[in-house]
Amino acid sequence: MDQILGIDVGASGIKGALVDLKKGKLSGERFRVPTPQPATPEAMAEAFAEIVRYFNYSGPIGCGFPSIVKNGVCLSAANIDQAWIGANIEEVFGKASGCRVYATNDADAAGIAEMRHGVGQGENGLVFLITIGSGLGSALFYKGMMIPNTELGHLLWTNNKVAEQWCSSGARERLKIGRKEWARRFNEYLHHLERLFTPDLIILGGGESKFFDQYQQFFDVKARVIPAQLLNNAGIIGAAAYAAEQ
Ligand code: BGC
Repeated sequence: MDQILGIDVGASGIKGALVDLKKGKLSGERFRVPTPQPATPEAMAEAFAEIVRYFNYSGPIGCGFPSIVKNGVCLSAANIDQAWIGANIEEVFGKASGCRVYATNDADAAGIAEMRHGVGQGENGLVFLITIGSGLGSALFYKGMMIPNTELGHLLWTNNKVAEQWCSSGARERLKIGRKEWARRFNEYLHHLERLFTPDLIILGGGESKFFDQYQQFFDVKARVIPAQLLNNAGIIGAAAYAAEQ
């Protein structure tokens, strides 16, 4: 199969596109629907099915999902409705769309895409991809091999808060802090990761990666820090690549 529909489920939008797996690129336009609020399984299943109908698609689908995903089951719900916990994402979306769905964590999907087709190609050391959006997602690779569901956006931080409540884009908007203050916080977060893991490379993805030039000067960790190349399409491309492998 050369082309698979990839769908990136996020806290604010659900985006899909057909992915050319050989080139590791979108083979057409993206289609986005806003994530329903509250983001319950029923409401999100309908939004998911709308995307599949838009592409008039009936093959296998790769799905990046913003939670811990183990054997297709959702095990956490930081930025989606709590009703998701324990639900089988592959079954819920599969039933709604009539397609076989393969689900994986959204940051892991983005990491797979960047390692195969983006800035991570040929990187053999310890690599992190951190997605910065409504939440903070993480993907960890060593010698190209991924350790799934790392959830490093949930490291405990000052005042016992999880890191993503302190330095995600969601937190920046909610707490109304400027980009400079945000970058100072994020730099501290990077130092914390560095103390724990000594990475060789940290790739920054998610919506915030577009603004890398505005804040990179505030980072001073030893690891190389670079923006993701596939930007916001990484989640879609990686989800499709994940489905192709299953
Ligand atoms: C979730 C992760 C997810 C990240 C980015 C976090 O709140 O716990 O599973 O990867 O947000 O969406």
